[in-house]
This record gives sequence, C-alpha cells and structure tokens, in this order.
Amino acid sequence: MELKKINSKKSSGSVDVLIGLQWGDEGKGKIVDVLALGYKAVARFSGGPNAGHTLLIGDKEIILHVIPSGIIRTGLDNFIGNGVVLSPYLLKEEIEGLQKLGLDVKNRLFISIRAHMITPAQVFLDKALEYIKSSKEKIGTTQKGIGPTYESKINRSGLRMEDIFATNLQKRYDKIERDILKRIKSYGVKPSNVDFNLSEEKKKFFEGVKFLRSYEICDVSEKINKYLSMGKSILAEGAQGTLLDIDHGSYPYVTSSNPSIGGVCTGLGVAASSIDKVYGVTKAYTTRVGSGPFPTELDCKIGEKIRKKGREFGATTGRPRRCGWLDLTLLRYAVILNGVTDLVVSKIDVLEKFEKIKLCTYYNPYHNWPPSNLSKVNLKEISFPGWKKSIQESKSVSELPDELIIILNKIQEFCQVNISHISVGAERNQVIEV
Ligand code: GDP
Ligand code: IMO
Ligand code: MG
Repeated sequence: MELKKINSKKSSGSVDVLIGLQWGDEGKGKIVDVLALGYKAVARFSGGPNAGHTLLIGDKEIILHVIPSGIIRTGLDNFIGNGVVLSPYLLKEEIEGLQKLGLDVKNRLFISIRAHMITPAQVFLDKALEYIKSSKEKIGTTQKGIGPTYESKINRSGLRMEDIFATNLQKRYDKIERDILKRIKSYGVKPSNVDFNLSEEKKKFFEGVKFLRSYEICDVSEKINKYLSMGKSILAEGAQGTLLDIDHGSYPYVTSSNPSIGGVCTGLGVAASSIDKVYGVTKAYTTRVGSGPFPTELDCKIGEKIRKKGREFGATTGRPRRCGWLDLTLLRYAVILNGVTDLVVSKIDVLEKFEKIKLCTYYNPYHNWPPSNLSKVNLKEISFPGWKKSIQESKSVSELPDELIIILNKIQEFCQVNISHISVGAERNQVIEV
C-alpha cells in the first residue's frame, strides 16, 4: 500500500524573541514596547517578579514585573507562559496599578494554567538561604522566592495556577509550608532574622489567589499555537539575561530559570521551528546587580559616573547596579548561544561626552569562548576616543558622530551580527532603526 503524503500545514505566524544578552536590565522592556506594535501578542516565558522592566511614557514611569510590556499598547494580547513563576499577590498589585492608569488588563491578559505560584514559604526560604551564606557566598537574590519556587517545580511539589480552582488547594499549600518551615528550622533561621511575617504574607497570598480566580487562566501554549496557525505573530519577551541563565550563565551567581533562547520553547510550549527573529539586547556598557564575577567591572570613578548618568539602580530592589565596560567576549558568546539575528544596543547616550570609551576582550586561551569561571580571565582593553555632542535627539544613523560609528562597527564585526536598533534615551521615541 502507498504511504500518502499529507498536505501538512506549517503555521504561517511566527514567534520572534527578544532576549537580554548580559546580566539583565539591558532595557528589554523599552524595546519590547517599541517593537510590540508589529505583533498580535507579547508573551513572557521565564522568570517572575525578580524582573523589573521599565517603560517611560511621557513623564510616566511604569515598571512591569510579570506582565508583558505589550500591555501598554492597546489592541494586543499578553501571555504569561508556563515557564514563569508568579506571586498571586504581587500580580494582583501589578494589575491594579495598571488599571489605575486606565489600562484594560482583564480582557488582554492570559495566564498559563501551568505557571507556578510563589508561596510565602518559598520567599522565606529564599531569604533564609541568603541569610545563612557567608558574605562571599551570597548570590544577592531579589528575595522574591524565585529559586525555591523553581526548586519545588523540579521536585514536583509546586502549586500551579490551575490549582487556584482546586478544592484541596489549602491542604497542598499547608504541606509545602510545613515541609519548607521544617527545612528553615534546621538552618536555625527565624522569621525575625530576615524580617519576614508569615501570617501576613499568607493572608496576602490567598487574597491574590481569590483575585486571580476572575482572570483568564488558560492553556497559553494552545492559545499561542492557535494564533500561529492563524498567521498571527507573537513577540516573546525575555526577562533577566543570558549570563544569569541557570545552565549557560555565571553559575552559581545566576537565577533559577533559562532566560536564554531554550527557555522560549519550554516556557511557552512552542516549537523551535516557529522561532524566526531573535533580537538580542545589550547595553553599550555592562551592569550587574547581585554578586558574582564581573571581568570588566569599574570599581572606580568611571564606574560611578556610568551609574549616575545611566541611573543604574535596580527596578525591582533599588540596589545600585555594578557598572563596567562592554565585554565583547561575553557579548559574542551570548549572540552565538541565542542565535541572535538582530542586535539592539541600548543606553549609548549614557556614554556621550566620555573622553575615552573602552571595549574589552579576553586574552588567550579564552579569547573565543569564555570559561565557565569568569574570575579566571585576563582582560584586553581596546580604547576609543569618545564624542562630544548629544545624541539623544538623533533619528538616524547618519546623525551619529563618526567616533560612535567606529565603536558600533567594532561591535558588529567582533560579534558577527548586524545592529538593528540603537537606543539613545529611555523614551519610546528615542530609538534609531538601522
Ligand atoms: P530591563 O529589565 O531590561 O527591561 O531594563 P530595566 O528597566 O531594568 O533597566 C533599564 C533602565 O534604563 C530603565 O530605567 C530604562 O528606562 C532605561 N533605559 C532604557 N533604554 C535606555 C536608553 O537608551 N538610554 C537611557 N538613558 N536609558 C534607557
Ligand atoms: P530583568 O528582567 C537584573 C539577579 C539577581 C541575582 C540573581 C538571582 O529586570 O532584567 P533571583 O532573585 O532571580 O534568584 O536572583 O539574578 N536578577 C536580575 N538582575 N535584572 C533582572 O531582571 C534580574 N532578575 C534576577 O540580582 O544576582
Ligand atoms: Mg530590569
């Protein structure tokens, strides 16, 4: 008998991805806001309220934590995928904050039944684990319960969004709490040690759960795949950055998810073949919050100048961000790992009027690929003269000073990828499409 060829229909819509190429805070939120108009939906695939994505709309600064940055633009849907972990109470607060600005969230937000919930015990454990570490060992987490929640997901004891409708929710919640409290007790940590009030947080958790019951909790993977089959394209919004990836980042000083490209398929339930463009965002320099090796860190006046001019303070925790020169070896690593097709360089305006600007690579044997332990590398600095004029009003590449173009050419040439967008200020209109 003949095996007939079926007329297999490939989805006509595609998933474009936007990923942070450094240690987070590259300006992803702003760029998603700029690109969002070209899509039917924006989807978050990993991380949780450890993220802080800032959008500056006129004089209004909006910071999003788990809701995709597409929520600000009317007419497109927003998905929170299964790869995200969320605190019901913090999500309630985030929704209410947006509603106060007059935005319709209810009809445009779709939350995966498979996304895991962060319970108060997991927040307590996050804090306790940091508390018992020596100052050298501390990760400097955002203390939002991210690590312990992904841990529960992997050991198959976690609570998922679908559980907010389950009759045994309380029983399962109690078991998680009991088990985690036992563990924390064995570390000798008390709530007062870490400024934590369990009964208050528990009350808030169930308040959040009750609130979210009236929201659209659905199979986000099914919904996205349906969109794709109808020719509707989606933008996947990365959180954190490649160097914070649990597998490919600067372990153990990382987050507990996969913010790099692999996380898109697992965190949304979409096929690798549906991915088309991969936008990778890098700052024109480097920042990092939390601990861990940072080869190009400038623990000096220049670092302070970047922090001040770039307003480099955490959007989620308010902590000062560590600042340093752009690390080309790490950037090329992130470009290759994620298969970046379009490079976005942000915050270039911060470096204007600097006398000298440096780009760094590593000496051999790490020139081509960074070692897993970044504290081992020796830096090679390439110095470029800066430029004098302000670029914040520039609308095209031709308006940019030659000194800057030389730097951008070096980045492209070293990373072997073309720059598609240059961000010259925090506002949505301060971006140059190349
Ligand atoms: P995200 O986590 O990657 O979305 O980035 P954050 O919002 O945490 O941090 C980026 C910060 O830089 C925010 O305060 C933005 O408003 C701001 N920002 C984004 N792009 C630019 C830019 O091109 N120039 C300047 N000066 N600020 C920018
Ligand atoms: P966005 O999406 C910058 C860092 C924390 C810490 C490490 C682990 O705004 O770019 P966690 O709480 O995740 O267990 O902390 O990861 N971190 C971020 N740094 N931007 C973020 O998100 C981050 N999310 C986590 O500072 O070093
Ligand atoms: Mg951020």
